This record gives sequence, C-alpha cells and structure tokens, in this order.
Amino acid sequence: MSEKKSRYFIRTFGCQMNESDSERISGMLGQTGAVKAERPEDADLVIVNTCAVREKSEAKLFSYLGRLAQLKKEKNLRIAVVGCVAQLRGWELLEKKAAVDFVLGPDNTAELISLVQEEAAEKHVSTSWTKEWHETSPGLIQRDSPVSAYVTVMEGCDNFCAYCVVPYTRGREKYRPLRSILGEVHDLARKGYLEAQLLGQNVNSYQDPDSGKPFTELLRAVATVEGIEWIRFLTSHPKNFRPEIAEAMAGIRKVCRQLHLPLQSGSNAVLKRMKRGYTREEYLNIISRLRSLMPGIGLSTDIIVGLPGETDQDFEETVEVLRQVRFINIFSFRYSPRPMTAASRLEDSVPKVTKQRRLEEIQRVQKDIQLEDHRRLVGQTMRVLCLGHGQKTPHLFSGRNAGNQVVNFRSDEDSTGRFVEVRITGFGPFSLLGEKTI
Ligand code: 5AD
Ligand code: SF4
Repeated sequence: MSEKKSRYFIRTFGCQMNESDSERISGMLGQTGAVKAERPEDADLVIVNTCAVREKSEAKLFSYLGRLAQLKKEKNLRIAVVGCVAQLRGWELLEKKAAVDFVLGPDNTAELISLVQEEAAEKHVSTSWTKEWHETSPGLIQRDSPVSAYVTVMEGCDNFCAYCVVPYTRGREKYRPLRSILGEVHDLARKGYLEAQLLGQNVNSYQDPDSGKPFTELLRAVATVEGIEWIRFLTSHPKNFRPEIAEAMAGIRKVCRQLHLPLQSGSNAVLKRMKRGYTREEYLNIISRLRSLMPGIGLSTDIIVGLPGETDQDFEETVEVLRQVRFINIFSFRYSPRPMTAASRLEDSVPKVTKQRRLEEIQRVQKDIQLEDHRRLVGQTMRVLCLGHGQKTPHLFSGRNAGNQVVNFRSDEDSTGRFVEVRITGFGPFSLLGEKTI
C-alpha cells in the first residue's frame, strides 16, 4: 500500500438496501486505511452505488457519471460503479462510459479492497453470483446514524413481479443466519442504538438457513435483545404476509406499529398482469386484520401508474383503495420498462402524458389525505425517537414516531438518540411539527 492515505467518496442512489450496502463498503474501505472524503473533488476513488429499478434511476446515474468523467479530466481519479446497474450492465458500462474503471455487482463489492490495496490500474468487471451469504463483521460497518441501524436479514427476490428488475440484479433469495443477525443486533445495542430496521427485498419469506425458523421467530429473537427498543422491517409482500406475522407484530411490544406493504395497483386486472399473486380484496383483508389487531398502525405503500394496458377505470380503482386505506405515506412511480422483465415484452401502451397525469392525481389525492390526517393529530402528544437535526430544518430536531411519521420539533436541549414526548402543534403534508414536552 502507498504511504499516502487514499481518499474515497461514495454516492448512493436508490433504496435503504443500497444505503446499507454503502455503509458496509465504507467500513471495508476504512479497514484498508482509506479515508472518507466529503466531495468527489477531494477523493482519488469515487464509488457510485447504483439503482436499476426504474429508467429514471439509470438516467440519473449516467448524468452523474458524465460529471465525474469531467472531473477525471482535471485530476487523478478512479471510478467504481457498484450495485444493481453494475450487475445489470456489466462490461456495457465500460463501453458507454470510458471514465469508469471498476464495475462490481452486489455480490462482488468486497473486491474493492484488493483493487484499492493493489492500486489496480487495469479495468475490472465482476458480476458473478454467489449462493452463500457474505458476512461482514458488524464492527466494520460505518453507519450514518448513531441511533437507528439497518440490519440486512436477506437478499434477493424470487417473486419475479412482471415489471421488476430486482430478481435480475440482486439474484435469488438468500437468507442470513439468525445467529449472525443476532450478533449484529447485540453489537448495536452495546453501541447504544435504540432502533433496528431489518432489511431485505422480501423479508416475510425469511427462513433461518440453520434451523428453518421463519420470519416471526426472527422478530421474536431480535426483540429479546436488551437496549434495542424499536424494531421495524421492510419490505413486506402481501403474498407472503401470513396472518401469523400480523399476530407476532401485535404480540411483540418492541415491533413498531407500522408496516410498509406495497400495493402497486388497486385493480385486480393490473395486479394479475403484474403477477403479484394477490387480489385487491386480499390486500384489503390484510389491512383490516392489521387494524383490528393494532388500531392506529401506520401503513405506507408503493404504487405504480401506467403499467401496459392500465385503463382509466383500473387507475380509479387504485385511487379508491388509497381513499379507503388512508396510508400515512405512499411512494408512487410512473411505470418504465426494465430489461429482461416480463412486462418489458408488452407494448408500453400508456402514453407518457397519461402516466404523468395519473401520477399527479394520485399524489394530489394522497397529499390531501395526509393533510387531513395530520390536522387531526394537532394537540396530541406522542413518543418520538429523535434522530438528529432536521436536514431541511436545522433549527429543529427531527425524528419518527412509532407509526413512522416524520416529526420535527423544538427542544431546548439536544435530544439526538433519545425517546422524547412531543406535543403536535402544526403540520405539513409530509411531516408533523411539535414541541418537546419531556
Ligand atoms: N417502473 C416503475 N416503478 C417500478 N418499481 C419497480 N419496478 C418499477 C418499474 N419498472 C417500483 C415499485 C417497487 C418500488 C421499489 O419501485 O413500486 O415497489
Ligand atoms: Fe421486485 Fe416484486 Fe421482488 Fe419487490 S417483490 S423486489 S417488486 S420482484
């Protein structure tokens, strides 16, 4: 290794899984003596952790790589593209973007260490799958938050929803052994973390590879760890969300009364074309069961508008479900065809303007729902886990309540990393505003 410490900058696109992978990559690079830089201008290695889920995510990546290529003309820089787009595009990335040096799929990011240590000058592409779980020692993860931690419990997805590229970028499902998950959660508790967020593309299908124990046992085991007070998990799938999971959630005090349950569409015809494996009625039954077991549970969802063949009537059925369920938050997207997926073989028949109109309508309907529901919370006092200063509101602290709503609040003292009681005094469509009472 050279005397001079190498400096890396990491840019993360996409989901929590990618954020978590980036924290692991930072930890691994830290082990080699490399130091994190705040800007690509100050780094000699830039790692771009990528998302392939929508066309727009890839477009953003390519424009970012264009900017890095400019920077590379001015200084000595190596560029590593890792994660989902790396897996999907492989060598093609080097052909399209000559400035890129290394391309590593989600199972190959550990190779960064030797590439950095050997100061590799050659271009390098590695996108092979492995069946085994890659364990990272918990001590090696450089986490962004000192309060709430991601804990990966499984990787990959076997569902092959018709629109989704994830099974082709993250591969088949593989599960992390329960004992190593518990090892990591104990380590978090020792470090003072209060919240663990269990991550995976399809967490409900978790099975301990050693004992065959299902997801509900994982929840029970994590809840026994003293010091961890709140447990969340994502992403769930309505098809795999068995009644026992709702019962386990209700029976475990530490599991937050919150669930992200992607609906995608409220039309049975569209759900069928999506190959989601449930009907609108089955989805609504799950919601009723959750609400009867856990009144006040915070529900959020994902919606895609404009799947091939989606009619105005189909779309209206989605809007109806939103009005009926009253989610606390939704993530909504215009459909875009992705390589290798079943839907990409259908004609992308809904015009872009129609997709845009539907997206805007769904977001308007949801915004009104959130404003109405937030208004009703004014005057109430709620428990909030303070995560730090607000990003957009530095004069306020920011946290989340058990239902996963964002709560910004005034406080005379720094409450970061503590549970506080907050009285709600105001609201916006996407967050609540309040004052700390205790
Ligand atoms: N087009 C638009 N949205 C998509 N998603 C996944 N694939 C696509 C696609 N091809 C959305 C789904 C998923 C979320 C992570 O991204 O709603 O739940
Ligand atoms: Fe994609 Fe469906 Fe798997 Fe989610 S469940 S990652 S949408 S294939």
